[in-house]
Amino acid sequence: MDPNAPILFFDSGVGGLSVLGPTLKVLPNAPIVYAADSAGFPYGKRTEAEIASRVPALLGRLVERFHPRLAVIACNTASTIALDHVRSALDLPVVGTVPAIKPAAEMSKSRVIGVLGTEATVRQPYVDDLAAKFAADCTIIRHGSPELVELAEAKLAGEEIGTDAVRAAAQPMFDAPGGDRIDTVVLACTHFPLLDAELRAAFPGVAYVDGGPGIARRIAWLTREQAWPGAPSEGLMLFTSATRTPSLANLARFGIGDVRTL
Ligand code: DGL
Repeated sequence: MDPNAPILFFDSGVGGLSVLGPTLKVLPNAPIVYAADSAGFPYGKRTEAEIASRVPALLGRLVERFHPRLAVIACNTASTIALDHVRSALDLPVVGTVPAIKPAAEMSKSRVIGVLGTEATVRQPYVDDLAAKFAADCTIIRHGSPELVELAEAKLAGEEIGTDAVRAAAQPMFDAPGGDRIDTVVLACTHFPLLDAELRAAFPGVAYVDGGPGIARRIAWLTREQAWPGAPSEGLMLFTSATRTPSLANLARFGIGDVRTL
């Protein structure tokens, strides 16, 4: 394995940064290529058929161009719909992002769990399967919020976003029947951990779980015998269309210094 072979991160927008952050904590010298499919954003509003054809094709082109050692679909929507298609299309390890219902069920005392994702993710049979397998004795209340995705994009672009906007976007989940007993919320969209501070301020006393740290451990395990460069390098972020980009100061916190359009 070439020590300079990158890890390829993929999302519709900035959400994958919430997976990249924990990954760099365990693999600080990993070379990074981060692709954001801004031309397809937001995935949460797309159909299953659109995601299932778009994501494997795009990842195929990125793999040909960058020869990554591993690809991370740092997006719950793309993973719950297209992970199998991507794995069968690509000849390299592919790590997906699926809602962290299992750890949430291990933590919840009230046995009422909120699953906050995109509209596309919360309707996936994949979520039903996880709930049946790991949280059969829990009530699962799902809420799809395109507003929170937009708020995360705005925050990373350097805009001021208030706690009130975040509260208004997630409140319907707590207002649903039984929602007042939610004690644990699965952040089932990679954009949402980027709003961690605002969510905690809006709904104190609730525990939040996301897949980022677990995915980082999985990446480290899958690459455990591989060589890495001796020092960190500047990460590359690619967009599939000209778009509102995150601020360079925010990207620098994730080791990204080079931003381009594909
Ligand atoms: N970050 C994505 C996810 O984890 C999708 C956001 C969107 O494009 O709607 O589901």
